[in-house]
Formats: sequence, structure tokens, C-alpha cells
Amino acid sequence: GAAELGPYRHYMQKEIFEQPRVIGDTLEGVTGIMPELFGDGAYHVFKQIDRVLILACGTSYYSGLTAKYWIESVAKVPVNVEIASEYRYRDSVPHPNTLVVTISQSGETADTLAALKHARSLGMEHTLTICNVATSAMVRECKLAYITRAGVEVGVASTKAFTTQLAALFLLTLSLAQVNGHLSDEQEAEHLKAMRHLPVAIAAVLALEPQIIAWADDFARKENALFLGRGMHYPIALEGALKLKEISYIHAEAYPAGELKHGPLALVTEEMPVVTIAPNDALIEKLKSNMQEVRARGGQLYVFADVDSRITSGEGVHVIRLPEHYGLLSPILHVVSLQLLAYHSALARGTDVDKPRNLAKSVTVE
Ligand code: G6P
Repeated sequence: GAAELGPYRHYMQKEIFEQPRVIGDTLEGVTGIMPELFGDGAYHVFKQIDRVLILACGTSYYSGLTAKYWIESVAKVPVNVEIASEYRYRDSVPHPNTLVVTISQSGETADTLAALKHARSLGMEHTLTICNVATSAMVRECKLAYITRAGVEVGVASTKAFTTQLAALFLLTLSLAQVNGHLSDEQEAEHLKAMRHLPVAIAAVLALEPQIIAWADDFARKENALFLGRGMHYPIALEGALKLKEISYIHAEAYPAGELKHGPLALVTEEMPVVTIAPNDALIEKLKSNMQEVRARGGQLYVFADVDSRITSGEGVHVIRLPEHYGLLSPILHVVSLQLLAYHSALARGTDVDKPRNLAKSVTVE
């Protein structure tokens, strides 16, 4: 009801703005990195495994894709991420020393539960879930668990569940790194400090809302949009495109920017807004040349840059600057700006933001 919504127009907007608090809640009590954050016996399990298989659907699949970049880079453990409905029905090559990780807001998604059972039937016994509902089937079915504290999510398009999943997956990354001897005490302290500062950093991104509203009016008039990212921000581009299509019904696609030449550049005209996630990381120069390719075809760039990225607005280049570059945790900040862009574009189009047509909050049947 209206009372619960407070100053917000929709649950989705309220849930976007709850993120500083629920990220804080999800990380509450984490005073150090240790496998036991995931349950008793986790150390023993993490010692035995030499690869990770992540299974999920929808937005949860994109948090898994982000985690692949983190885990391989920081913990040096190979990771496969699979869409649950594909994995459960395809022939795959099982490996007993796999940590099977399911990611699910509801813990009741039929395909993800079936994929978990399929993995187990293939002899993979080490199971862990990142889940938002402690009493769900998923938590019952997995040996290890980390319960995110997003609270009840009403909006069909997931927002706070996604960022809390990322927070939990970062803890998993660091725990695996520690067990494998890739996390010094100094690194652990630095990461913990960055995590504790996340609520403040997210609040600073939320403060960009007025600038994002100004862009949303342009977007509302388009029928197509392209999202570009590189590295660990490629899954964030995918999630940004998913949010936009789910609630505004604008056709949106995401590509790793390096793939532009292999297809999507053919779609770029003056009518195509190209949202570019441009954190100030090692790939920024590569990304700038991708942006040039878009501009040369008349494409309109909407760039989410970090404060210190040397990208300037100009003809056909619109820039919003995130307040700080946030290193490995940068995806958690950048996705918040994309959630707001999708929300305000949908609002400008007058769609039913919290209940988009044809979609369900929890898909418990196949
Ligand atoms: C539905 C929801 C999505 C969600 C997906 C997976 O499609 O609309 O927001 O990401 O299911 O749900 P789960 O509960 O397993 O994360």
C-alpha cells in the first residue's frame, strides 16, 4: 500500500533506494574472511574443490557471470556459469571436485532446483547456494549457504537482490582466495574496508538520479538500445539491458564492447542510443576506441564514467560521472545507475513498472 511505499512511486524505486541498507545488512557481522561464512564444513569443501560451476536464471545468472570474473582473477579457480534450463538438459562432462553454486533470490526457481539435482545426479556433491530466502527449497537442498539480506523484493524486476548477491559472491571469491593462499592479511583488510564503505558509495550513485531522469526522457522515445561493457562490467551491461527491456519494453541488447565490429555496429545509427559502462579501469583506452567506432556511425553515446575517467561530453556524447572508481566492487555501483535508467525510462513511458506484462516474480514451473 501507499504507506509502505513512503516517498516512492513504485516498489522498484523503493527497492533501488534500499540498496545501501540491504548491502550493509548482508555484510553485517562479517568481521573477517573465512570459509565458515558459508556454513560448517566449508573449509573442508573449499580445500577439496578445484573448479566452480554456477547455475542460475535471469538476473541471478548475471550475478554469476560477474562472479566468474572475480573468482578467476582473485582466487585463481576456474569457473563455468550456466543457465539452469540449459544445463539440466544438456550432456556435460561432470567433475567430482566441483563446487556447485546456485544463485537464486527466491530459492524456488524450478529450473535452478532441477539443475542442482542434475549436477548431484552426475556425482557432484559439493553444493552451495547464494539465496535470499532462508526457508526455501534451495537452502534445504544445498550443503552450504549464504543468505543475502535483501528483504522481501516486490518488484518483478530484481534490483536489491542482485546487488546483495554480488556482495555475497565477493565474500565467496575472497574465501576461496584465502583457502588457496591468494589473500594476504593486508589484502583481506583492504577488501573489508571497501565492502564496509559500499553503502556510502551506493548512496552517492543514487544521488545521480536527477541526471539520469534527464536521460530517461530521451530513452523513452526510442525503440532500441545497445549496452556496452568490458570485462567484469560486461555482465553489468547484460543486466542493464535486461532491466530496460523487462520494464520499459524497449528492445535492448548488451555486447562486450570488443564484439562491436562483429555485428552490432551494423545496427548503429543516429536513432540508436548506446549506453556505455566506462569505469576507469585497465580497459578504458580500449573502450574509448569502441566509443569512437559508435560515434563515427552517428550513434548517440550515453556514458556512465567514473569521476576520474578522461571522457568529456560533446556532440553525441552524454556523460554521467560516478563519484569514485571502486576497483573490483565497481560492478555493484555501476549497476545501480542502470537500474535507475531503466526505472525512469519505464516511468516516462507509463508502463506497469512493478508488474511488467507476461513476467512473474518467481518462476516455479518450467
Ligand atoms: C524471474 C524474475 C527475475 C529473476 C529470475 C530468477 O524471471 O522475474 O527477477 O532474476 O526469475 O529468479 P530467482 O528467484 O531464482 O533469482
